[in-house]
Amino acid sequence: MPTPGEVPWDIVEHTAAKHDIYQRYLERWFPILLTGKEKWYPSVTYAEGFAGPGIYKTGERGSPVIALQAFIDKVPPTKGASRFLFIDDDPRCVALLREQLAPVIEKTTRTEETMPVEVVEGTCESQLEKQLTVMDAWGKPIFAMLDSWGNAPIPYQLLRRLAGNVSSEVMITFLPQHFVRFVTKLGDSADDVFGGDRRWREVAKLPDGPSKYRHLLDCYRQALSQAGFQYLLGFELVPRTGQSLYLLFGTNHPLGVKKMKDTLWEVDKSFGIGFRDPRDDQDETLFELSEPQVAPLGRLLLPTIIKAGESGCRVNDLVDFTLFETAFRKEHIIPTISMLRDQGKIETDRPGRIVYGTFVRVPQP
Ligand SMILES: C[S@@+](CC[C@H](N)C(=O)[O-])C[C@H]1O[C@@H](n2cnc3c(N)ncnc32)[C@H](O)[C@@H]1O
Repeated sequence: MPTPGEVPWDIVEHTAAKHDIYQRYLERWFPILLTGKEKWYPSVTYAEGFAGPGIYKTGERGSPVIALQAFIDKVPPTKGASRFLFIDDDPRCVALLREQLAPVIEKTTRTEETMPVEVVEGTCESQLEKQLTVMDAWGKPIFAMLDSWGNAPIPYQLLRRLAGNVSSEVMITFLPQHFVRFVTKLGDSADDVFGGDRRWREVAKLPDGPSKYRHLLDCYRQALSQAGFQYLLGFELVPRTGQSLYLLFGTNHPLGVKKMKDTLWEVDKSFGIGFRDPRDDQDETLFELSEPQVAPLGRLLLPTIIKAGESGCRVNDLVDFTLFETAFRKEHIIPTISMLRDQGKIETDRPGRIVYGTFVRVPQP
């Protein structure tokens, strides 16, 4: 749906943090895939389904310009190629984006063969998969950036195809309130958005906005997993004021998860943006300025510990869940277990220092 207001628009608080994440991640993604020591590919594709105009009202760069520059800066011209595909259904965004990309393309020594760039006017749903075929992108790694406001459909078939494509990853973002409105308006036909899973319909029974969007985000995460993405990282960027932004990253590679997590924990804290796991029903941010808050990880780990019953589980058994299912890193696990023990929520098989071999369980009656 074309942008309702003027183009370009004002930058909002979480956009700078979002762009910092994109830039830091793509500056890793391009070189790993194109110049990696062990395995590398001759070419990759970076595609956006909701590209925007490439610039904000006060001059900040948009994500297409950030992506192009990350490739130019981080991959030597003698190394592999990258295709760039940008789709937007607003003709004003398309025209402005072409203007923004032109000087970046002109300045580089890259050629039409090693850096083809296509800007296409049309909807993500009608154009993205098709144009990836036109550019001969399938069968080689693709990074798909699907950065809408949450009010446009992303074809489930596209997500399945991306999940099954070699070394491909997806970043989906949306404003949760827009997503709730969009899905509610679609009614029963929203089943397609969730890959046919009807569990999202339970949203009608939920009492308030936060529980509605927590449920929908959870269903969407599940749908992406069903589409074939083995590892998913979902988190909200929470500004001091205004709406939060939800980001969901899907990959089939543990290295992708690790690099995305490194990126998250490095994001410039001066943006003042908090990170939150939307599954945490107490809405606590993971970190605000410098200190990570481990309470949300405690709440995420507790059900696994409860499930392990009387015999409990080793701290080591919680590592994979933490690494691949939450935004936390390995070094956050032991402080979290220690906090849970201090709070009396769990007990350990020995007093004192907690190590990966320690057994933990909920206190037995
Ligand atoms: C959040 S903005 C993109 C911002 C951009 N990724 C950035 O970070 O600089 C979303 C864009 O999606 C476009 N859009 C909305 N619905 C669309 C659809 N169905 N297909 C393609 N583009 C769409 C809008 O015109 C808008 O430019």
